[in-house]
Amino acid sequence: MALGPKAMRIGLLRHLVCPACRDRLRPAPPPASDQEVIEEGELRCAGCARSYSIVKGVPRCLVTDVAAATITARTRRQYDFAWRRFGLREIEEGWEKDSARYLSLIPGELLGRPGSLGLDAGCGGGADLLRIAERGAEVIGVDLSEGVESASRATAHLPNVHVVQADIHRLPFPPGLFDFAYSFGVLHHLPDPSRGFTAIAELLKPGAPLITYLYEDFSDRSAMERTALRVVRAVRRVTSRAPGPILLALCWVAVPAVWLAFSLPARMLLRPFPRLAGRLPFRHTLRWPVLASDLFDRFSPAIEWRFSSRGLMELYRIAGFQAVEMRRYRGWVSWGFKRDRTATAGDDDARRAVLDSMARG
Ligand SMILES: C[S@@+](CC[C@H](N)C(=O)[O-])C[C@H]1O[C@@H](n2cnc3c(N)ncnc32)[C@H](O)[C@@H]1O
Repeated sequence: MALGPKAMRIGLLRHLVCPACRDRLRPAPPPASDQEVIEEGELRCAGCARSYSIVKGVPRCLVTDVAAATITARTRRQYDFAWRRFGLREIEEGWEKDSARYLSLIPGELLGRPGSLGLDAGCGGGADLLRIAERGAEVIGVDLSEGVESASRATAHLPNVHVVQADIHRLPFPPGLFDFAYSFGVLHHLPDPSRGFTAIAELLKPGAPLITYLYEDFSDRSAMERTALRVVRAVRRVTSRAPGPILLALCWVAVPAVWLAFSLPARMLLRPFPRLAGRLPFRHTLRWPVLASDLFDRFSPAIEWRFSSRGLMELYRIAGFQAVEMRRYRGWVSWGFKRDRTATAGDDDARRAVLDSMARG
């Protein structure tokens, strides 16, 4: 994999709009007629005159979404720290990621083909962006955090990939732009996940799929598993406020116990008792750094929602999707297709009712 400083391809400009007012963005100074990339510079909005910097080849299109500002700032801080530590490492060292396993549950045609345009909403360090763009579609990875630094370097060799720093609540794209979108492990960290569904839905063409991976609420699991989840939630109340370095040190302290209690038994049970092994958390790796980063990912985010299969179906429906399908993989791998209809006021009440019935921690 060729890692290098990344430059923004001028071609990205035809997709970008101002995240505040949705008018066109123009590079300043204007590029030469034969210029193909910009490494550092500025994008100016033709409508509201806001400007967004391009730093290390990544347009920084962040504007504050007031309704979500407090949680978003905390989430960003934790993920800035996490991706600085683990972003490139997980790609360079080929860490075992859950998404590598659940990708096989998603029909391949949903994740684009050459000529189509996709959105990775919350691309983090870029591991999935890399994997999915290699299938040939043009893909734009968006993330709130410094994950964009590693995502852009990891995909620098792929001419069909762009990376933008932006907030899902205020995405810098025009409505109806994308042929597909996916969002793995992201929407459950928003203060109101249904707003995330709706924001992405708006950017899809009618009939285009949105594929998500989201946490399950354990409502159909054993009493023991539900108790374990309650304990994790109680612990999260403290850890999600801890400074990154301290929390990461604590995660490292917990790694040997997690390895002994879950990862190793899961490996030993895999052949004789695959169903039992499949229920154990942290079964996807035996590597300690991967476990430390996974623990950090579990215990650091400011907020996490968990969904029942019915509740999640309902969120898809309310955001304007149909033909929703779900597969279980330590959570829900789901997809639905955008209906040709926008949300109504009645949908808003339904959305509130669904969220009120859901577990948040
Ligand atoms: C658990 S990570 C998942 C990253 C990646 N999809 C993966 O599976 O490796 C969650 C990501 O969501 C991003 N995120 C959280 N809230 C966001 C928001 N409001 N807008 C954009 N990205 C957000 C975080 O910065 C973080 O990189």
